[in-house]
Formats: sequence, C-alpha cells, structure tokens
Amino acid sequence: MSDAVLLERRGEIALVTVDNPPVNALGQSVRAGLLAAFQQAEADPQVRAVVLVCAGRTFMAGADIREFGKPPQAPSLPEVVEAIENATKPSVAVIHGTALGGGLEVALSCHYRIARRDAQVGLPEVKLGLLPGAGGTQRLPRLAGVEKALDMIVSGTPIRAPEALEFNVVDEFIDGDLVEAGLAFAQRLLADGKGPRRTGERNERVQQAGLAELIAHKRGEVQKRLPGQFSPQRCIDAVEAATQLPLRDGLVRERELFMQCMESPQRAAQIHAFFAEREAAKVEGLAADVLPREVRSAAVIGGGTMGVGIVLCFANAGIPVKLLEVSDEALQRGLDRARSTYAASVARGSLSAEEMERRMGLISGVLDYAALGDADVVVEAVFESLDVKRQVFERLDATCKPGAILASNTSSLDLDEIAAFTQRPQDVVGLHFFSPANVMRLLEVVRGKATSDAVLASAMQLGKRLKKVSVVVGVCDGFVGNRMIFQYGRQAEFLLEEGATPAQVDRALRAFGMAMGPLAVRDMSGLDISHAIRSRQRPNLKPGQTLPTVLDHLIAAGMLGQKSGTGFYHYGEGRTAQDNPALPAMLEQAAAERGITRAPVEDEEIVERCIYALINEAANILDEGIAQRASDVDVIFLNGYGFPAWRGGPLFYADSVGLARVLERIREFHQRLGAWWQPAPLLERLVAEGRRFADL
Ligand code: 3HC
Ligand code: NAI
Repeated sequence: MSDAVLLERRGEIALVTVDNPPVNALGQSVRAGLLAAFQQAEADPQVRAVVLVCAGRTFMAGADIREFGKPPQAPSLPEVVEAIENATKPSVAVIHGTALGGGLEVALSCHYRIARRDAQVGLPEVKLGLLPGAGGTQRLPRLAGVEKALDMIVSGTPIRAPEALEFNVVDEFIDGDLVEAGLAFAQRLLADGKGPRRTGERNERVQQAGLAELIAHKRGEVQKRLPGQFSPQRCIDAVEAATQLPLRDGLVRERELFMQCMESPQRAAQIHAFFAEREAAKVEGLAADVLPREVRSAAVIGGGTMGVGIVLCFANAGIPVKLLEVSDEALQRGLDRARSTYAASVARGSLSAEEMERRMGLISGVLDYAALGDADVVVEAVFESLDVKRQVFERLDATCKPGAILASNTSSLDLDEIAAFTQRPQDVVGLHFFSPANVMRLLEVVRGKATSDAVLASAMQLGKRLKKVSVVVGVCDGFVGNRMIFQYGRQAEFLLEEGATPAQVDRALRAFGMAMGPLAVRDMSGLDISHAIRSRQRPNLKPGQTLPTVLDHLIAAGMLGQKSGTGFYHYGEGRTAQDNPALPAMLEQAAAERGITRAPVEDEEIVERCIYALINEAANILDEGIAQRASDVDVIFLNGYGFPAWRGGPLFYADSVGLARVLERIREFHQRLGAWWQPAPLLERLVAEGRRFADL
C-alpha cells in the first residue's frame, strides 16, 4: 500500500481512505494504493463490502495534472477504475467537497455513491483541453442520461449535490461524519442483501431512441459556439461511442480520443492556463510571515457602474458593505441598481428570492464619512479625476480607522499620487475591477511604491474571497491589461484606415479565438471613453508615434458606440450590429490625412498586427517589472479580455509561434509602419539567447 491510501478493516467492511493533500489528486501513488486496496479487499474472505472516503477538504479532484505530458506510470487510471467496477463485493464512494474528473470517474466505478449536500461533482477535463479518460464518457451517460452527460462533459461545469441526486449520479445525501455515514450505508446494503451494481452494465439510458439526433444537434451547436476548439468535439465523439458500442469497445474509443486530446497543442495551452492562474496567487518578495489583515466589513465610495458592481461582489461573498454617495438621489440610484441586478438573476433562476434579500440585507447606503469608521476595507470608485480622488482620499484618511485598507479602482490614474493624498500611503492599494465588476473574474491588484506587504497580502486574500482571479501589477498608465489593449485597439483602427472594415477586423480576431472583436468591444464600452483616454495620452507620445484619426471623426459626428446607436457599427433593431454607412467616408478622410490609399488587407495581417502588438507591449511591461511573470500576463488576458484559453494567453501563444518569427514580423512592421513597432528589448534578448517567455 502507498502512504497516500490507507486500508483498514471495520468488521465486515474494508475502509479505504485516500489522503493526498491538498486535493487528493490521483497521482501514481494514489492509483497504486487504490488498486492494491481494492485487490486486497477483494481477496480478503472477511470483507463483504468496501467504503471509499477521502481525507481533508475534498474527495479526489481528478488526475494529477502535473503528470500530464510526462511518461505514463502504471497503474493507469482506467486499470484502477476497471478493477473497482469489476469487484464482486459492493463498494460505496462517500463524496464531500468536489469529486472532479478522474475523481468522479473513480466514484462512478464504485457501485453506490453517497454525498454531502454541499458537495459538487463534475467532469471538467474539457477545460484542460481533454476529455474524461477513465470511463467518464461511458459511465456518466449510463447514469445521468446522454443529454445531461453531454452538457456536463462538454461544458466542464460541475453540478451540485441536489442535481446529482436528481440525475442518479448520487444515491443518497449524508450528514455528519463521512466514515460513519459510509459504514452505515454499506451495512444497510449488506443487510438488504444488495451486491455490486455496476454502472457499466446499466445500458438502458444509452440505448434509447433519438440519441443520434440529440448528438448531431449538440455537435452543430458546439461547432457554432466553440469554433476552433478541439476537445469539445472529441467529448461528443466519446459520448456518441457510449450510445453505439458495448462498454468495453466504448472505453477503447474513449482512450483513443483522450490520447488525441493529450497530444493536441490546445491541451498544453489550457494546462498552462490552469497552473498560471494558481501561480498568479503567489506574490514575489513577500515575507513568509506576513499576516493578511482580516476583512469583516467593507465600504465602497461612488455608486456608479463600477461602484455598484463592487458592492455586489462584497455582498455575494457575505461581507457587509456600505455604499457612500454624494446625494440621496445618487445613493438611491446605486441601491436601486444593486437590487435590479439581483432581481434579474432571480428572474433568470440563478438566484433565489430569499438569497437576494439576504444579500441586499448586507448592503446599506450612507452619505456621511463618519459611517465608515469601522470599515476594514474601503474601495473608491468615483469619477476618474485626480481632484475628486484627492477629496475622497483626504476624507478617508481623516475618518477611517488605523489599519483600514484604502483601495482605489482607478483604471488610469497614478496610484502613487493617490496614496500621497493620505498620511498612510502604506495602506493604499489599487483594486482594479473590470466591468461588470460582479461578473468579470479578473482583478488587477496594483502595488504602489509605498503599499505595505500586509496590505498587498490582504488584497490578494480579499480577491480570493470575492472569487476573483487576482494578479499583482505595478503602477503605469493602464497597468498591464489596458496598457496592452491600447496597442491592440490602435492597430485595429490603423487597419481600418488602411482598408479593412470593422466586420473584417472583428471576424478575423474572432476566428483567432477572441471572445469579441475589438471594434465591437469599443462600441460597447463607449467611444467617448476611448477618445478621452486618447486625448490624455496625446501629450506623452514619443517621436514618430502618430494616432489614427477615425475616432475623432466618429466623435465629431456624435457617434459614441452602442449608447448613441452608432459607432464603428450601426445598431438597428435588437442591437444587431450593421455597417455604419457614414464610416467609409470617414476612413477615406483619415487615410488621406495619413497620406495613404486604402487597399484590401489580409486577415492574417489583421491578426498578426493586433496580437503581436500585445506581445511586444507585454515584453516591455515585463522588462519594467510591471508584471511579476510572463504567465501573469496570460492570466490577465484570459480572464479579463476574452483571449482564447486554448491558446494559453498572448505570451504562451508567442512561445508557441516561436519568438524568432514574432520578432521578424515586428521588425517588418517597424520598417513599414514606424515607431509604434519599436521591437521590445526583452523580445530581442530572448531571441538572441534562443529562449522563450516560459524560460524567464
Ligand atoms: N492535479 C494536480 N494538482 C492539483 C489538481 C490536480 N488535479 N487540482 C488542484 N491542484 C493543486 C493546485 O495546483 C494548487 O497547488 P498549489 O497550492 O501548489 O498552487 C492546489 O492543488 C490547490 O488548488 P486550488 O488553489 O485550485 O484550490 P481550490 O480550493 O481553490 O480549488 C479545486 C480546488 C476545485 C479542486 C481546483 O483545484 C480544481 O478545479 N482542480 C482541477 C480539477 C480538474 O480539472 N480535474 C480534472 C483533472 S483531468 C482528469 O481527471 C483526467 C481524467 O479524466 C483521466
Ligand atoms: P460612474 O460615472 O459610473 O460612477 C461614478 C460615481 O461616483 C457616480 O455615481 C458619482 O455620483 C459618484 N461620485 C462622484 N464623486 C463622488 C464623491 N466625491 N463621493 C462619492 N461619490 C462620488 O463611473 P465608473 O465607470 O463607475 O468609474 C468609477 C471608477 O472606476 C473610475 O475611477 C474608473 O476609471 C474606474 N473603472 C471604470 C471601469 C469601467 O469600465 N467603467 C473599469 C475599471 C475601472
């Protein structure tokens, strides 16, 4: 037996405990231990049933992802699972926490499953560019039905215990001690004379009529919704096999498809993204003994678009939060917006009316700073003006208790200047939420010159509580994400002036995998905002850095994007984007101002110009120490900007294209298009040394 798996006898029942912190991943020692334990239980004449539990915070969370891409070590998970299912003594999996991926596959191979009411089960392999490779695609449809199994496997989203019970994935809920509950259930089985009940033998639900149509429909839907992605279609192929082949052959087919995914570059990119996200939580240079401050109450200043979203984040996390505004009217507007956002979730069925009231009960409105004296953290989200921020931070400094964390949601102002408005710059940090703040997962945690280690650690811990992916960034215009996106958006506009259309630019980048095209995004967030940023940046341009002028023409015509009904696109009925008939003349004019003639542009050029502009800027950002590590840049783009997970983020993508090739194109653009394309020194160094971003 291995250290990670313990086998004990409890009367007639063998108790198998997996103990492999932190998440009981099914690494080699767990697989070997499980196989040995089930084999011993099978061979022991005193044993009549087996109970499988996990120690620590969760049931097995899946295969050990760190082993992927390395030479396989026996026993394989399919071997383990087969031995468990084929055993002649009934087995019970006792599920708590999250039974995910290979963990759920082990549970499905047990003959019965019982679970805590707050447990979750799922097959998230698709999020790693894989498919369930230890029988999940064959066994889950046999329990939950093909439709539900397809949904779960193709989306990768786990379901909660009540739904698992409804769909036969779980047999019963348990309370109290896991081991006691498992033993009691097994004793009941024995008393009732129940033997093994093998999932693989339950064929009724995979042999129903109409499954071929169901599968074809899903295939079409996935083709449309997730173009370019390899593993979702392979997931469907594998489930289809469950409906066409006997278990044994279906498992063989699943294995083949699993290996195809394993070898795909998308798998490598998505696993990079998984570990990059966890790595981002680690802050360089923090003393090991630094203690984060406790956050029991919060306040938000400014109840506009962002402020209300941030208030919702706190309430969602169960943290009482006060919203401060300038007038009764503005305050009421903010509170109403909070309530109507929750009401929309209730109407959609994603939140109960009771939970909405509980969360609204955590939110209170105030007009006076005196009410903020007890707040552990205050997030400022007032107008983007240094003068207004000064007024707010001076007041906060005067009223907040010592040790309160003072945060600004500024997206473009200098955090160090804001911190200097207080006598306690060490307590000031940036919390740069993305819009809508209650939806977007990304949080840039801005480390100012004076921000103390304790405040930074507290901000990171708070981000986790708010269910955000938090990434530490340094102070500069736009921090990491927006600073890169300025380059990307500017190229999109230049390309229009050179001859492309908005629809072509957006289509090319969506085909690359971006969730939305850059020009549709601009129209959504408002061209006046882009224009204001542009105007602010103008005085800081370096020699040779010219700006596209199409935005000036649109603004002059009152075309501000979706909010005015027209921007790069015209928005007709139901907000569908159509061509803006006034745009071609504006682009001709802009081209004339630049002294160029508009001519067709290739899609490949569009993608390279926009994406390589991101990469070049990211290299400068890394060189300046604004981001801690290359993978942090990837995390920011994957979670805040709709960059395709299956490309791993801009810098993982750069490595996969080859930095020499990227630099070669950037040099060509530099020659042809001028100053914006000055190659980043870091990129040049990496190419000269034959290294990649991943080697930094
Ligand atoms: N393998 C290896 N390490 C894992 C792991 C796994 N499956 N799951 C989590 N970890 C590690 C994390 O990297 C992290 O390590 P670190 O502390 O050194 O950074 C640590 O465990 C804790 O993880 P989280 O910070 O994510 O902890 P949370 O409590 O926030 O979340 C979780 C727990 C929900 C289990 C989350 O970790 C998770 O979603 N894990 C991945 C689950 C998954 O994708 N499983 C499928 C694997 S593929 C598979 O099973 C193939 C099979 O079909 C053959
Ligand atoms: P907004 O204009 O929607 O809201 C600002 C709110 O602040 C208004 O309700 C106003 O009444 C209130 N306010 C103004 N002065 C105040 C004061 N002295 N005290 C209390 N309340 C005051 O602005 P938005 O978009 O919510 O932006 C707020 C901040 O968030 C800005 O710093 C902005 O740069 C930043 N941000 C905005 C993002 C966006 O997409 N809108 C994204 C990320 C950050």
